[in-house]
Amino acid sequence: MEHQATYNYKVVRQFAIMTVIWGIVGMLVGVIIAAQMYWPELNFGPYFHFGRLRPLHTNAVIFAFGGCGLFATSYYVVQRTCNVRLISDKLAAFHFWGWQLVIVLAAITLPMGLTRGKEYAELEWPITWLIAVIWVAYAIVFFGTIAKRKVKHIYVANWFYGAFILAVALLHIVNGLAIPVSATKSYSVYSGAIDAMVQWWYGHNAVGFFLTAGFLGMMYYFVPKQAGRPVYSYRLSVVHFWALCFTYMWAGPHHLHYTALPDWTQSLGMVFSLILLAPSWGGMINGIMTLSGAWHKLRTDPILKFLVTALSFYGMSTFEGPMMAIKTVNALSHYTDWTVGHVHSGALGWVAMITIGSIYYLIPRLFNKEEMYSVKLIDTHFWIATIGVVLYISSMWIAGVTQGLMWRAVNTDGTLTYAFIDSVKASYPYYFIRFLGGLCFLSGMLLMLYNVLRTVFSGQAVDAKIPAIAQHA
Ligand code: HEM
Ligand code: HEM
Repeated sequence: MEHQATYNYKVVRQFAIMTVIWGIVGMLVGVIIAAQMYWPELNFGPYFHFGRLRPLHTNAVIFAFGGCGLFATSYYVVQRTCNVRLISDKLAAFHFWGWQLVIVLAAITLPMGLTRGKEYAELEWPITWLIAVIWVAYAIVFFGTIAKRKVKHIYVANWFYGAFILAVALLHIVNGLAIPVSATKSYSVYSGAIDAMVQWWYGHNAVGFFLTAGFLGMMYYFVPKQAGRPVYSYRLSVVHFWALCFTYMWAGPHHLHYTALPDWTQSLGMVFSLILLAPSWGGMINGIMTLSGAWHKLRTDPILKFLVTALSFYGMSTFEGPMMAIKTVNALSHYTDWTVGHVHSGALGWVAMITIGSIYYLIPRLFNKEEMYSVKLIDTHFWIATIGVVLYISSMWIAGVTQGLMWRAVNTDGTLTYAFIDSVKASYPYYFIRFLGGLCFLSGMLLMLYNVLRTVFSGQAVDAKIPAIAQHA
């Protein structure tokens, strides 16, 4: 069968290109809302104010940019490591077009103010159902391809992608259960503190499985590939996989410290968050040590720079997270911009950088080229992105700690030293620095788009042939 002789690169190409496009859109909205916090007059109502654009930003960067990156790489990795074509081109195409439809529907309904009011699960019930159907198609293609594999061993990257697919399905369905009252409005089936717990069980595991496990799958394929070295410790990768999956599931209550949630539940969340440091660092060290013997490549290879810097930010944010989960630390950090800084050291430093590195790896291979149009431009992108992340997170750390300290400061007579507005005024300079950091990061993405387009237009869309002998590729 002629058709069977090649990998399905079409869907990989489609998702890879859309990763760059949605990355730019989502980050542009990020820069706009960052500007709105510095220049409040940029809040034009009702469709263009902060409250409506913020969920548009989070949905676009997580599910459109991050999602397309995960789908592109998982489809590439599962085929290459299983030595077979995807089991169904039609279902894969349905997945691609369905997901783009969801993104467009989100971009229309969120600015209209249609929302379930649950963070990262805002989309109203008809879209929630559509996502569930598309996700099932994705799961069938991914696991079906694994079932049909020509290589006996299931490479560890596929374990991480598989956990991401299964866990996200579970989270999405449980947290999505709602009673519709009209085509555009529904109410959660849970109430009160239980609703809050279900939401943050979802929210934290969205971090653990959407923003972490899938990207660890990327790490386990693209870091060894780009470094030209085997994974440092395959045994560690397996231990780290099971420990990570088990521990993440329990850490959600750290989002609800000092709330109506029972105290023991909060303490449980704190303890599991502290334990989470170990598997997270196991993965990080495994990734970084994969470079042993290839350190010299870091000097000249900007793709490797992206991948390794991503791992460093992963290590940093998974150290910071457990610290913030300690109740007394959280008493200071919660509600402040420290949380926003933590989020973006994970989101920009880890998620975006590992994705960018992986997409730079993929594009020439998908379009039959030796390398990207300009390697120098990848290097420029790397530096501008790194400066952007550093500006973003350091300004938010300072703003966050300042806010936390000002809110708790008391005079000798017991009255508050500062009014809330004083802390807002004190935050302004940092909001400007965050805006500049975001602008740097976005400019890097525009350079990437240019570089990708030049590579794509000078190349051809060729699907690689499946090697006759079963081997890891
Ligand atoms: C060991 C790993 C981690 C732990 C224990 C952890 C812990 C925490 C804690 C304690 C908070 C603050 C909750 C609050 O005060 O409201 C938080 C917020 C958050 N973290 Fe992490 N974190 C970890 C890793 C990460 C990573 C790698 C990312 C991103 C890729 C991330 C994304 C987020 C997000 C998006 C929020 C904000 C949630 C919200 O309030 O909307 N975290 N995390
Ligand atoms: C140019 C890049 C970016 C800029 C300028 C930016 C800016 C912002 C701003 C201003 C907020 C609102 C903070 C607040 O409510 O005070 C925000 C929230 C958020 N952003 Fe970004 N962002 C960028 C990229 C990303 C990326 C790539 C991701 C994920 C992969 C991401 C994930 C999030 C999340 C999860 C939140 C909610 C945080 C929370 O609830 O604590 N952002 N972003």
